[in-house]
Amino acid sequence: MLAMNYRGPYRVRVDHKPMPEIQHPRDAIVQVTRACICGSDLHLYHGMVPDTRVGSTFGHEFIGIVREVGTAVENLKVGDKVLVPFNIACGQCVFCRQGLFANCHESNSMSTAVGGIFGYSHIAGGFDGGQTEYVRVPYADVGPTVIPEGMNDEDALLLTDVLPTGYQAAEMGGIKTGDTVVVFGAGPVGIMAARCAWLFGAGRVIVIDHLEYRLEFVKKYAPCEAYNFKSMDDPVVFIKRMTDWLGADVCIDAVGSDACGNAMQTITGKKLLLQAGSATALHWAINSVKKGGIVSIVGVYGPTDNLVPIGNVVNKGITVRANQTSVKRLLPRLIEHIQNGILSPKDIITHRFALEDIAEAYHIFSSKLDACIKPVLVPNASS
Ligand SMILES: NC(=O)c1ccc[n+]([C@@H]2O[C@H](COP(=O)([O-])OP(=O)(O)OC[C@H]3O[C@@H](n4cnc5c(N)ncnc54)[C@H](O)[C@@H]3O)[C@@H](O)[C@H]2O)c1
Ligand SMILES: [Zn+2]
Ligand SMILES: [Zn+2]
Repeated sequence: MLAMNYRGPYRVRVDHKPMPEIQHPRDAIVQVTRACICGSDLHLYHGMVPDTRVGSTFGHEFIGIVREVGTAVENLKVGDKVLVPFNIACGQCVFCRQGLFANCHESNSMSTAVGGIFGYSHIAGGFDGGQTEYVRVPYADVGPTVIPEGMNDEDALLLTDVLPTGYQAAEMGGIKTGDTVVVFGAGPVGIMAARCAWLFGAGRVIVIDHLEYRLEFVKKYAPCEAYNFKSMDDPVVFIKRMTDWLGADVCIDAVGSDACGNAMQTITGKKLLLQAGSATALHWAINSVKKGGIVSIVGVYGPTDNLVPIGNVVNKGITVRANQTSVKRLLPRLIEHIQNGILSPKDIITHRFALEDIAEAYHIFSSKLDACIKPVLVPNASS
C-alpha cells in the first residue's frame, strides 16, 4: 500500500509499505478515504518534535471504511464509514473515565503526559498515522465513530481534530456573556476557536495573525475583527488599547511552537532549539489578558521547557488552561451543531491533493502558499 514516509525535516514522500495487520483483539484496520495535514504535522515536518523517526507515517485526522475488526470490537463492523478521533484512548483508565481521552494512561504507556496520537512521533506512542491507504486503529471500540447518515464526509473529517480543538479552546477559556476574546493564530484551529467563541457568549472576538489571506477569511467566517501583527508596534499594547487598557477577558493561543514575531524566541526556539519552540504567541496571550483573566492554550509545544513569563501569570492572577483535545468527549455536541447547520467546518478546506502528491501538499501548507488554509489528501482508490 502507499503511505506517507518521513525522511527528515522538510522531506516527506510516498512509498510502498506493508499492509497493517490486526495485532490485538481491540484493533481495526481502516481504509482511509480522506486525511488532512494539520498545523501539528508541521511541527513534525519542521523537525521540532523529539523522537520523530525516519520511516514513520504522519496523519491524525482521517476518515475511512472499516475493512477488518479484531475479535473484541463489537460496536463496529466491516464496511462501516467512520471518523477516527486523533487521540488513541483505551476508554477504561482513570483519565478516560473522566473524559480526558487525550490523556489516556494506557495508550502511550512510556509517557506520563499525553496519551497516544496517530502519526505523532514516538513521544505520542510511535503509532503510524492516516496519511496512507490503510491504517491500524488500536482501541477501535473507543474512538472510531460511525459517520451519521447524511453528514458530508469533509465535515466528518474536520470532526477528528480541528473543530473539536477550536471548540475546546473556547470552552477552556471559560468565556462569559459579553467577554472580549482574543485568538492568536488564524490557522484552521484559530478560525474554529473564533467561530466557537460566539457559541459560549462572547461579546467581541478579535483574531491576530500576520497572513492577510487568513485574516480576510476569518473576518467573514467567524465573523470577527482580525488584525495583522506585522502592522503593530507591539501586539500587547495594541490589544490593551482596544480594551480600555484592561486587557482581554480571554486569550487563546492557537499558534504553538512554530510562532513567529519575536526574534529572540525564533532564534532560541526554532533555530538553536534551546527551548521547545517559539513561545511568542503565548507571551502575547499572557501579557495581553486582563488581571484575573484566562489564557487557553491549544497550540502545541514540545515536552521540554519554554521561556514563559510565569511571573506575569502569578502577579496578574491569570488562570492558564491547556490540553490536547479530547475529541470523543465533544463529538455528540459538535455532530448536533453540524446537523443543525450551526457549524460548517468543511468550508475551511481550500486544497485537495492526491496522496502521491504529499511532498507538494506539505510544502504548500507549510509555506502558506496559494492562500492555503486546510489541505486534504485523497488516496487514489478513494477519489
Ligand atoms: N491541542 C490540540 O489538541 C491541538 C489540535 C490541533 C492542533 N493543535 C495546534 O494548534 C496550533 C494551530 O494549528 P493550525 O492547524 O491552525 O496551524 P497553522 O500552522 O495552519 O496556523 C498557525 C497560524 O498561526 C500564525 N502565527 C504565527 N505566529 C503567530 C503569532 N506570534 N501570533 C499570532 N499568529 C501567529 C500563522 O501565521 C498561522 O496562520 C498548532 O500548534 C497545532 O499543533 C493543537
Ligand atoms: Zn490535527
Ligand atoms: Zn485510557
